[in-house]
Amino acid sequence: MERAIQGVAEALRDARSVVIVTGAGVSAESRIPTFRDAMEGLWKSFDPMKLATPEAFEADPETVSRWYDFRRAKCLEAIPNGGHVALARMQREIESRGGSFTLLTQNVDRLHQRAGSRDVVELHGSIMVWRCVETGRRYEDLPVPFEEFPPRSPEDTLLRPDVVWFGEALPEAALERAFEASSACDLFFSVGTSAVVYPAAGFVDVARQGGAQAVEVNRDETPISDAVDWSLRGASGEILPRLVAEAFR
Ligand code: OAD
Repeated sequence: MERAIQGVAEALRDARSVVIVTGAGVSAESRIPTFRDAMEGLWKSFDPMKLATPEAFEADPETVSRWYDFRRAKCLEAIPNGGHVALARMQREIESRGGSFTLLTQNVDRLHQRAGSRDVVELHGSIMVWRCVETGRRYEDLPVPFEEFPPRSPEDTLLRPDVVWFGEALPEAALERAFEASSACDLFFSVGTSAVVYPAAGFVDVARQGGAQAVEVNRDETPISDAVDWSLRGASGEILPRLVAEAFR
């Protein structure tokens, strides 16, 4: 592992354009459950088809909004971990050298932003933002917990979480930025994601087709582990700080 970290650290020092895609594994060490992990994964205790689809919300907006309100409170209680902090430092170091850095996250918890990452691309939206189902108007900093379920806007219209549900398209602007950055980068990281949900899982191929080297940081094997140049197996909260310390001594 040490030699791999040194190899990646060297590539990071020389990189002119870095893209990172993160998944729930980065927030696991902040005690936010992942989706597919065997024991504590969310999808083990809740049926996503009953809670994370437009049809589920249509059928029972109270239950779905209660579940998202509960998860939003958990995210607010969570503390960014060493992996989040390391990625924020990586961005500062790369940008201070005149390089470009793009953080694409599938996470909706805003822990990257709370750790200091800037201009984060939220591929699946954010649980901290709720939008009016009629006008699309977005609201942040709403009371936690909500006073009523389902929550309503000041204009007394129904509010839904501004997250991407199964069967919904990703935000157009986020997708565009993700494809552009991935195709132009020279170093691509996939961190803490099972790499099974597209299009996020496909950005590593876009990067490699553009000539980038690819790194995976994951506790377990994933479908992209054999396709990357370096596979750093372990907890992102432990590996990322070591990597950044080694690269930017
Ligand atoms: P998953 O739960 O599918 O995968 C979490 C990944 O993180 C797995 O590969 C774990 O092995 C790994 N992992 C767990 N703890 C880790 C740690 N401490 N350090 C490093 N890796 C760790 O979560 P995602 O890949 O983020 O989509 O799921 C992708 C999407 O599927 C989510 O954004 C969500 C879900 O359906 C939508 O809601 C649209």
